[in-house]
Amino acid sequence: MEDKTISSVSKITQSPLTNKENEPVLEIWGGHPLSGTVTISGAKNSALVLMAGSLLCPEDCRLSNVPDLVDIRRMSQILTALGAKITKNGDILNIDAREINPTKAPYDLVSQLRASFFAIGALLTRFGTVRIPLPGGCAIGARPVELHVKGLQAMGANVFIDSGIVQANVKGRNSRLQGAKIYLDYPSVGATETILMAATLAEGETIIENAAQEPEIVDLANFCCAMGAKIRGAGTKKIIISGVERLHSVDYRVIPDRIEAGTFLVAGAITRSEIALSPVISEHLIPVIAKLETVGCRVIAESGDCLKLIPGALKGTDIETLPYPGFPTDMQAQFMALLSISEGNSVVSETVFENRLRHVAELQRMGANIRVKGNHAFIEGVPMLSGAPVMATDLRASAALVLAGLAAQGKTIVRGLHHLDRGYENLEDKLQGLGAKLERVISNQ
Ligand code: EPZ
Repeated sequence: MEDKTISSVSKITQSPLTNKENEPVLEIWGGHPLSGTVTISGAKNSALVLMAGSLLCPEDCRLSNVPDLVDIRRMSQILTALGAKITKNGDILNIDAREINPTKAPYDLVSQLRASFFAIGALLTRFGTVRIPLPGGCAIGARPVELHVKGLQAMGANVFIDSGIVQANVKGRNSRLQGAKIYLDYPSVGATETILMAATLAEGETIIENAAQEPEIVDLANFCCAMGAKIRGAGTKKIIISGVERLHSVDYRVIPDRIEAGTFLVAGAITRSEIALSPVISEHLIPVIAKLETVGCRVIAESGDCLKLIPGALKGTDIETLPYPGFPTDMQAQFMALLSISEGNSVVSETVFENRLRHVAELQRMGANIRVKGNHAFIEGVPMLSGAPVMATDLRASAALVLAGLAAQGKTIVRGLHHLDRGYENLEDKLQGLGAKLERVISNQ
């Protein structure tokens, strides 16, 4: 397949944000068992930050196993607006960040894609100045960035926010960030990534205490080290970065998406189907696998990077979302759909985001028995959900509603697919490949 410049690709495949008249919806006919093996795509939340990290390099970088998602296309458009030259060939992105203007991040795109804000660290440490819009809040919470800003200030940056734009520059003659010891009040994934990238080219040593430990942090550190950065401790609460003068070109493969994999494991459990997934890094899924086994399923590691889900009688359990290695907040909605038809009582506590229980109302529309009090959802399992028209409110909620539709009796219509298309590559094709009965149609409501 010939290389495509990203501008042409984004025009062809951007999923439309449509109005009601010709809105794409998913029609799902529940009750069909699944079987077979599904291929897991590259991790969205790694690919996005690696794309930001490519701005550190004054040569070109090649990323492979990049998922084809709306968020990836948006990030490509943002990097292109900053001056990067991006070509896409299948799952390979070639990013040439030689000519970058660090003040050209487009307001409308950055405000729609939080991950693009993480580029602030890379741009500031390479150019000594940056101008980038605040990412703003979203359906699941206010999404502040004070931990990112405090980290950069600790490294010697002047940061001020005016009319929704964050402007930062580096004090001192050589306008180079200085290594610092930074304690994160909360193990924020994005703040850890911002500071880590900023520290790669800073003068001296930076220590991040109470750092996030997610696999995507490790992937970013491995990517930066492959470019010549000096980083130790990624994946632990303490990361040490020794600044270098310059980074070089790299060819790097994105890790598999642990949240997509977890979503498919739940698809097998909720439809009581035996399915296999590959490639998967099973240690990235320890809390999800543990909880699936608690509710009565078995998860078997087969040959290196393949996992098999063996369904079982579903019994309720309690879930509390926590920073990695705790149960991932990005799997909370999907697991709640499963607990809705698991026998007995379950409690789901969302401790990471302040507004990430909006899928409850839609699951209730399908007959789920859930009561919300604060950030806790109290679930009493029902024997069967019933298909209904439902509205997705955010990315992982949309996945939860699809899973609920697969298990429900009758037809479910899921609206708000622009949320789903941000984070799942060809979800309906992959589910159809497993025998699910669903299709994307244009509703004429
Ligand atoms: C990343 O978001 C992921 N996004 C999210 O995935 C994921 O849910 C989240 O990490 C937690 O694992 C990407 O990687 C692109 P945080 P991020 O900073 O970095 C608060 C998905 O569905 N906070 O760890 O924004 C924040 O408000 C998405 O794929 C501050 O208060 O998450 C939240 O309550 C959704 N101040 C908590 O920390 C800050 O400066 C966790 O946020 C930063 C964060």
